Amino acid sequence: MMDTLTAPSLDPATVRADFPILSRQVNGHPMVYLDSGNTSQKPQPVLDAVAEHYARHNANVSRSVHTVGTEATEAYEGARAKLARFIGAPGPDQVVFTKNSTEAINLVAYAFLAASVGGGDPRFRLGPGDQVVISEMEHHSNIVPWQLLCERTGATLRWFGITDDGRLDLSDLDTLVDERTKLVSYVHMSNILGTINPTEPVLARAREVGALVLLDCSQSVPHAPMDVTALGADFIAFTGHKMCGPTGIGALWGRGEVLAAMPPFLGGGSMIETVTMEKTTYAAPPTRFEAGTPPIAQAVGLGAAVDYLSGVDMRAVRAHEQQLTGYALDALQTVPDLRIFGPATTEARGGIISFALAGIHPHDVGQVLDGQGIEVRVGHHCARPVCARFGVASTTRASFYLYNTTAEVDALVRGLEQVRKVFG
Ligand code: ALA
Repeated sequence: MMDTLTAPSLDPATVRADFPILSRQVNGHPMVYLDSGNTSQKPQPVLDAVAEHYARHNANVSRSVHTVGTEATEAYEGARAKLARFIGAPGPDQVVFTKNSTEAINLVAYAFLAASVGGGDPRFRLGPGDQVVISEMEHHSNIVPWQLLCERTGATLRWFGITDDGRLDLSDLDTLVDERTKLVSYVHMSNILGTINPTEPVLARAREVGALVLLDCSQSVPHAPMDVTALGADFIAFTGHKMCGPTGIGALWGRGEVLAAMPPFLGGGSMIETVTMEKTTYAAPPTRFEAGTPPIAQAVGLGAAVDYLSGVDMRAVRAHEQQLTGYALDALQTVPDLRIFGPATTEARGGIISFALAGIHPHDVGQVLDGQGIEVRVGHHCARPVCARFGVASTTRASFYLYNTTAEVDALVRGLEQVRKVFG
């Protein structure tokens, strides 16, 4: 991650003016939106791009020779090219559009299953004795698909633990990831602890034993520059709605050679080369993995989101959030009886802070904050094993984005003082 001193800066007031929803009131108060880890808000250019697409260019893609169909196809494929550039992919054919990160991860899990039962590239074939390695820090979407895969193939699921300070425990890396490991799949930035996980040692070990590596980048791609070529993983999964784009669109990036070796996921129109009643042959990636009419307007909106974020500069986004997170970590520590889960400093940490107020249920915290217009997420954040690791059923979580301000952090702290008064 880059040095904030050399990073360009952003002006949150200018950024905020681009997001119409940020000027609304909630329960009679100016809205303080601190739930971007859940879903981000959308700037006007994204709203305009989606509306303009439906108003002027709506047609199905990759199957219409008429003018509007050609425009729609160019817009859809143009969005793929923008996204590829945004993540440093060598080419757009390495970007598969999916519904979200969950579908991207399931696509890879299904490829393993299909290869395991139907034959295919040995790197994807799993059976008893083989293993998949994940971590205790995962969102459920990076646990359940692998549990299902292991149940169905007889392979074994193993995982890295979490240290007391909320870091990935890699002390057993060499024993956990061994010659039986076919895949290591773990989170780049935790959606509950904010931890940004190391990649080099895991990738190096995976290479030694011939395992593939998938990184769940749902919380990292929206918040910091990404260069998949430099990263060196085999797959990354991420989603559009957390990066200023519409819901219903996400992506799987895969190394070209690895995607080409993968069997198809969903079957249907557009993913084929030829079909007879007896047999089908399949298109090359990414088309092979995009059966049926895709989320076209959503892709166009995501392309606009990428333009928007690139215009702001992802280095500035990262630097702004790092500053804000440091400010929030200090400010929250002034609230009595408040326990923060995850790293206590901004080092290798993103703009997500989960916490507990002693003796007060997170749902009560969330409700009183909402009464003051402050929108946070409460619950297990679809990461129950992380909560279990820290001995709690749920937490309250504030998550920041490029449009948040220190004044909003101050509002959160005042809001928590109010929570303590109500329940104290
Ligand atoms: N994964 C999303 C979150 O962390 C939904 O809130």
